[in-house]
Amino acid sequence: MNNQAQGIGPIGVFDSGYGGLTILDAIRKKLPQYDYLYLGDNARAPYGPRSFNIVYRFTLEAVKYLFDQGCHLVILACNTASAKALRNIQQNDLPNIDPTKRVLGVIRPTVEKIGEISHTGNIGILGTTGTIQSKSYDIEIEKIHPTFKVFSQSCPLWVPLVENLEAHGDGADYFVHKYINELLQQSNDIDSIILGCTHYPILIDKIRKYTPDHINIVEQGTIIADSLADYLNRHHEMDIKCSKNGSCSYLTTEDADKFNSLASIFLNENIDSKHINL
Ligand code: DGL
Repeated sequence: MNNQAQGIGPIGVFDSGYGGLTILDAIRKKLPQYDYLYLGDNARAPYGPRSFNIVYRFTLEAVKYLFDQGCHLVILACNTASAKALRNIQQNDLPNIDPTKRVLGVIRPTVEKIGEISHTGNIGILGTTGTIQSKSYDIEIEKIHPTFKVFSQSCPLWVPLVENLEAHGDGADYFVHKYINELLQQSNDIDSIILGCTHYPILIDKIRKYTPDHINIVEQGTIIADSLADYLNRHHEMDIKCSKNGSCSYLTTEDADKFNSLASIFLNENIDSKHINL
């Protein structure tokens, strides 16, 4: 019997583009036994500058598509979508689509973890314009760590640098240095910086180069992988609906050959994606 007939399916992983691959990579290392279906909405990336309604509509389309492919659980491996669409989808759409399906984001698990990482409670957030303007990190940090202070900086040029394969080029240095400086000028006491966009770990070498050594740079990959493992452990009813053949498939709204060549570089393995329209 195939997966569909058994009512089981892959875990869906969604991002506007290539950034979610940094999350997928960490999840697969932690939980290799599951099947995964990655969807990058590359044709419409970046989401960062887009309005609340557009990010919500695009994200909902992607989530529904992944549900139609048999996913019971979808991870929004995108801070912008987590900030602007997750709550609406969880509260207003899931009850109508299928109350047994689940969509999880990346902001809450990151904020839960930061309490173990920061000593001064002065946290820097780097994210897209959409994530920073939504104040989602400020709101979640206030709930869980009310004494912490949050300093935020949007980095509108970083996602385009990654999507255009310029992350390792000399030109990227200028904008990496610029936004880190602008963040650090807000406070001398920041001891941890959250990379609040899943594209940013692709720029990690340059981010490290311009960040003083005593500051923790917090990447989300392992945090989300640990949080997913914990979730599946606590939710047996969901775990048994997630198929386990160790496979990973890729969908993109852009040209499949283009996705394959860039994703293969990011993941260091051959990728054979399929083009879809949302
Ligand atoms: N990876 C997305 C995030 O974490 C980037 C969004 C974009 O497309 O601008 O926010």
